[in-house]
Amino acid sequence: MATILDGKEAAKDIRRTVAEGVAVLKNAAGIVPGLAVVIVGEDPASVIYTRSKARAAKKCGMLDILRKLPEETTEAELLAVVAALNDDDRVHGILVQLPLPDAIDEERIVAAILPSKDADGFHPVNVGLLSLGQPASVPCTPRGILSLLDRHEIDVTGMEAVVLGRSNIVGKPMAALLTARNATVTICHSRTKDLAFHTRRADLLVSAMGRPEMITGEMVREGVVAVDVGINRREDGTLTGDLHYESVAAKAMAITPVPGGVGPMTIATLLGNVLELAQRSGGEG
Ligand code: GUN
Repeated sequence: MATILDGKEAAKDIRRTVAEGVAVLKNAAGIVPGLAVVIVGEDPASVIYTRSKARAAKKCGMLDILRKLPEETTEAELLAVVAALNDDDRVHGILVQLPLPDAIDEERIVAAILPSKDADGFHPVNVGLLSLGQPASVPCTPRGILSLLDRHEIDVTGMEAVVLGRSNIVGKPMAALLTARNATVTICHSRTKDLAFHTRRADLLVSAMGRPEMITGEMVREGVVAVDVGINRREDGTLTGDLHYESVAAKAMAITPVPGGVGPMTIATLLGNVLELAQRSGGEG
């Protein structure tokens, strides 16, 4: 029977610990950690994510600022919003929800966020530091996945780790973090020739493709640790991951459910990132 890697429970614990850290920082240094979340447009999923992120920040005692900008916002206007948040001493973490409307150059916006306020770890300076194995803001989803594995005492040292997807948000930073933890990492993507050849070799499989139930039990080895980052909507409206859950779980040593696996860890980790940024701003840590 596969161990279920329950992200909901783990996220609850992290949020409790962050709330305690927030209280300590307030009492000791008079600093209230502040998270600014910026959304441009009305993409339904992004609207829900940003609302959840701002609410979660507030719930653990942080200052939450949610800036909702219209779809027609220009790049110059968004750059001005980011600059104002960079200058705002109440704000320790800035998150601009992606994707942005086509008319806005995402890379320019991400690069405009101060690296010391980069709640997502997407700024090129933080990407570079992570790649060098130096302390940095680390993207929330991959960092949350490592926390979940740690909680279950799954040590990735020496494992064959196969990451499906090469996005800047998940795949690439996941590969960097696993390499730093001494796994042997393969990244697969849409042009990979024989996906099943790679997935069958994986001791740890992290799927972030956004392809519903693409990975079936016959594509994985007995004893795999299977982590599903995919959140896909079926035609009937229910959610499913990239993994065909029943058949993969039948062979896995451990598996994350969808929903309730990786998803809750992303927001909890974001809160942890913001607390760390606020601690550093006060000269701690
Ligand atoms: N879009 C999807 N995931 C994320 C995330 O973790 N951060 C931001 N800023 N945008 C996203």
